[in-house]
Amino acid sequence: MKFVNSNKEKIKEYNKEHKLKYYIDTMGCQMNENDSLKYAGIFESMGFEKGTEADSNFYLFNTCCVRENAENTLFGRLGYLKQKKLKGKDIYIAVVGCMSQQRHILEKIKQSYKFVDIVLGTGSMSLFPDKVYKILINNKKEIEYVDVGNEIEEEVPIIYEDKYKASVSIIYGCNNFCSYCIVPYVRGRERSRKPEDIISDITRLAKKGYKEIMLLGQNVNSYGNDFKEKKYGFPDLLKDIEKIDGIEIIRFMSPHPKDFKDDLIEVIKNSKKIARQIHLPLQSGSTKILKDMNRKYTKEDFLNIVEKLKKADENISISTDIIVGFPGETNEDFNDTLDVVKKVKFDQIYMFIYSKRVGTKAAKMEDNTPNEEKVRRLETLKKVYEEQLPYNNEKMIGKVYKVLVEGKSKNNDKLYTGRTSQNKVVIFEADEKDIGRLKNIIIDSQHLWYLKGRIIDN
Ligand code: SAH
Ligand code: SF4
Ligand code: F3S
Repeated sequence: MKFVNSNKEKIKEYNKEHKLKYYIDTMGCQMNENDSLKYAGIFESMGFEKGTEADSNFYLFNTCCVRENAENTLFGRLGYLKQKKLKGKDIYIAVVGCMSQQRHILEKIKQSYKFVDIVLGTGSMSLFPDKVYKILINNKKEIEYVDVGNEIEEEVPIIYEDKYKASVSIIYGCNNFCSYCIVPYVRGRERSRKPEDIISDITRLAKKGYKEIMLLGQNVNSYGNDFKEKKYGFPDLLKDIEKIDGIEIIRFMSPHPKDFKDDLIEVIKNSKKIARQIHLPLQSGSTKILKDMNRKYTKEDFLNIVEKLKKADENISISTDIIVGFPGETNEDFNDTLDVVKKVKFDQIYMFIYSKRVGTKAAKMEDNTPNEEKVRRLETLKKVYEEQLPYNNEKMIGKVYKVLVEGKSKNNDKLYTGRTSQNKVVIFEADEKDIGRLKNIIIDSQHLWYLKGRIIDN
């Protein structure tokens, strides 16, 4: 479905006089970040100017509910804006995204946060302009529940903040129902974008000078499973993106280990552009816990994929997500997780304490582990991870890597930063004109969270 904004001109006209500024507050994952870029695109197409948190009129909260702490942030921020709205004029508030896709949250906002003007869930961006029109011009507020549905909204205007790196969504929703996870309930079923739509987006970006593309989806390697007429999967898409001139680095997240098949490994192996970094979410190293999590792979399956990837290219680095304290996780289960961490030597681990999400299967499971014990496991995991970090870094010293020069280093004007294909931050001396270019850099030293190097070409 093509995104159509029939209110655009009228709101633009309104903004000529009122000059409203928008401010977007994004919580959650890269899918939400990407959606926020689209909301920015919609705002600007309607004549809004980008404002700051202090001087804006139209506030949009793009929310997340994956864990309790993500969920708590919204109401605090709303409370603060209420004061502003009471005092000032022309203050509008919209709440969109995953959290507001839940009926009970929508009801709560309607009941207790009456000053909120617009509530929309995920996948209903096309309704946004009409709501804005009604609020601004008709002074009419309509807050109702909208199902996620099965549509894909194409050709939504989008504004990227970065000039060389861009994210592109390839599949929306999730069918996996991992027992702890709320995402399938708030993002709906898997919907793959047509390959031609993705290719044309990326080709356009390449022509504008973008060098690095991040393909996004809750489970990128189930891309295409919902195509009825043709057989075209994630490996096919990667091969087609590889052919686009100008794109030099291709990243994706997240693939699911259960769908990480040999044909995908083969494509990664043969590609000149796919980053030598794969994000492979482990969640737990215990086969028993993985089963309770409904992840559909075992500890051995996971280690097997890693081995195949390393065999395909020893330079591939692996990052992961891990949950500790899932209901029923024993010390022995946790030790299995540590065992995988020690064997794989992940370059990056996003670690979380299990957070109970109402409506999921795991919410009904017995959870006897005291919170202090869960915190202890998280600390142990952190320690094991940090102890082994230098291991991968040291292997990079003396070797040459292609690095996309992203910009000046925050702390020193003479130094610039970029990332290797493995997603390692590198700091080096460079020139303003190098920004946006790929440079060969030799690594001199490692400093746990970053590497130092020198450009060796001119
Ligand atoms: N689709 C992606 C990521 C989804 S959410 C994937 O499958 O990998 C990002 C991460 O949040 C997950 O990988 C998981 O580690 C974590 N997460 C999801 N639900 C959680 C919960 N209820 N408690 C704690 N962490 C959770
Ligand atoms: Fe959640 Fe699992 Fe889907 Fe990832 S794959 S979004 S963890 S249900
Ligand atoms: Fe959060 Fe929604 Fe992403 S729940 S993690 S913003 S898909």
